[in-house]
Amino acid sequence: MKKRLVSVLMSVTMAASLLAGCGSGAGGSSAVANTGDTAASDASSQAEATVEAEEETAAVDIPLAGACWYNFADTFISNARQSLLNIAAADGAIAVEDADSQNDTATQTNNMNNMFSKDVDYLILNNINTGAIDDICNQILEQGTYGIFANTDSPSDENFEKNEKLYSVSSVATQSGDIMGEAIVEYWKANPDADRNGNGKLDYIMLLGIQGHYDTTVRSQYSVQKIVDSGIEVNQIGGDLVCEYSRAKAQEAVAALLANYSDDIDAIIACNDDMALGGIEALKAGGFFGEDGKKVLVAGVDATAVGCDAVREGTLLVTALNNPITLAKATYKVMKLTSEGKEVTTESMGLDGVTVEGRRVWIDYKAITKDNVDEANYDINDTVIE
Ligand code: GAL
Repeated sequence: MKKRLVSVLMSVTMAASLLAGCGSGAGGSSAVANTGDTAASDASSQAEATVEAEEETAAVDIPLAGACWYNFADTFISNARQSLLNIAAADGAIAVEDADSQNDTATQTNNMNNMFSKDVDYLILNNINTGAIDDICNQILEQGTYGIFANTDSPSDENFEKNEKLYSVSSVATQSGDIMGEAIVEYWKANPDADRNGNGKLDYIMLLGIQGHYDTTVRSQYSVQKIVDSGIEVNQIGGDLVCEYSRAKAQEAVAALLANYSDDIDAIIACNDDMALGGIEALKAGGFFGEDGKKVLVAGVDATAVGCDAVREGTLLVTALNNPITLAKATYKVMKLTSEGKEVTTESMGLDGVTVEGRRVWIDYKAITKDNVDEANYDINDTVIE
């Protein structure tokens, strides 16, 4: 491990009783001498009881992690990113730097190489270059750093066998697909008028995130499978719409389909809340969710703050809590445990809803509807990792 230049609290400059310098007959000058300031004459102006700490930059032996996030502008990722920085700052045992891949694989490659040139001890990769996982794993192996694939497709078993410093941290995306499907089935079965054109089929639009991304693949498959398994016939409108987790792209895609299918669409299945909200925006502009009660069932994933607002408003039927704080905590904890030479297990991670299988770390989802939307709260300033 190299010495890293990090900001640390270096010294407490003076304590209140010493500052005032009165009464005790001792210590006034030594307290001031602590700051290197010999002009101690202005003790009266400092008579207020204060304890100050000086922040300085110093070289200390702590590991450095480089996190390459796919897109700082993504709602879920921006929360996870900020949370990881907060946890690292509060804990102080590992320094974290990060970089924005701006949803571009070439930028991701540059960012990764840049992190390697800084000789990071940990590379955290929120990978979008899903076709290049083997190559990336080989590069990590050559560099000799730890590699943590975060919130993305897991490396293969073979990659894990080749490199004992390889980890993945991800939510169990199958659960989020099931949660969306189950809520739609429940509503459909209880409300016959949910079949808006009366064709006996659930006509749905599928809004996909990044093509080939684990969450997108699994959420889209499992949600529809749940519906089909419950005996409901389905009809997909508009084919697979790749909207890359973007609200604006989803809004555009749904608005375009409304021109021809406004009377047919029964449901929108969105692989995240941002896209669900884009769809809702288009629906509102198309005359849905108004006073006449005309509606479409919309399902999303993440339970972001704005997603939860839509659940409260009644426009988003269901979302699945994908907790960015847990993602950040689990990622940090993998680094902390390995840096201390400890094994990463479900027990040693000690985080609610987090399970370890080999070197794959899994995070559970939770279904969020109008009934329990207040349970979706998480705190970006929560840095407790024990
Ligand atoms: C998913 C999340 C999406 C998006 C994506 C990026 O888990 O639900 O909103 O952030 O990760 O990797």
